[in-house]
Amino acid sequence: MGKILVMDHPLIQHKLSIIRNIDTGSKDFRALISEIANLICYEATRDLPLEEVEVETPICVTKTKVLAGKKLAVVPILRAGLGMVDGMLALVPTARVGHIGLYRDPDTLQPVEYYCKLPSDIDEREVFVVDPMLATGGSAIDAITQIKKRGAKHIKFLGIIAAPEGLNALHEAHPDVDIFVASLDEKLNDHGYIVPGLGDAGDRIFGTK
Ligand code: PRP
Ligand code: URA
Repeated sequence: MGKILVMDHPLIQHKLSIIRNIDTGSKDFRALISEIANLICYEATRDLPLEEVEVETPICVTKTKVLAGKKLAVVPILRAGLGMVDGMLALVPTARVGHIGLYRDPDTLQPVEYYCKLPSDIDEREVFVVDPMLATGGSAIDAITQIKKRGAKHIKFLGIIAAPEGLNALHEAHPDVDIFVASLDEKLNDHGYIVPGLGDAGDRIFGTK
């Protein structure tokens, strides 16, 4: 059974307060999304396997540990997931990056897929699906279903703000997937936006409206 972790680190809470603020502009918003992604990535990679190697320090030869060469992939859900990629790659620079394009139909709130390009060996990789917003959960559920169809077996979801509805739906649809988010907010409003949330993440990252 996948675990659910709501990260309550003070640095994350502080940065979240800034991105929630309506007066925060795109430049700061983008930078902070990336910084929060970096902090979540730190926790989500805690269980990566290690192997022992021998290293010669200036003092002596010693046994120490390095990552055991596990192949990783980061898959942002377009558009807003793109904002989390740099923060992830800062910690796992050799990860491959796939892209999955989905948008929510504003009337039905159902995800519509328009693009999918993943590393060809995605079945051999540990996959980190990233999207700042987990609202109804439809986009994340659909993206992970598509990624599983292409053979991926080890998937984690990293988000920034989740609504209880989306968190529960994702956990039920993909119980094997570990979920890491920075905040569990109160609810969805009638338009499927997270309350209190931060508004439309894609528009705030890219300055569109
Ligand atoms: C937003 C967000 C998620 C999705 C979450 O994307 O980035 O992908 O909504 O909502 P859900 O959990 O109800 O599916 P949006 O559809 O606005 O597309 P965009 O990122 O291209 O703006
Ligand atoms: N997508 C967003 O960008 N924000 C929300 O609150 C819900 C979905």
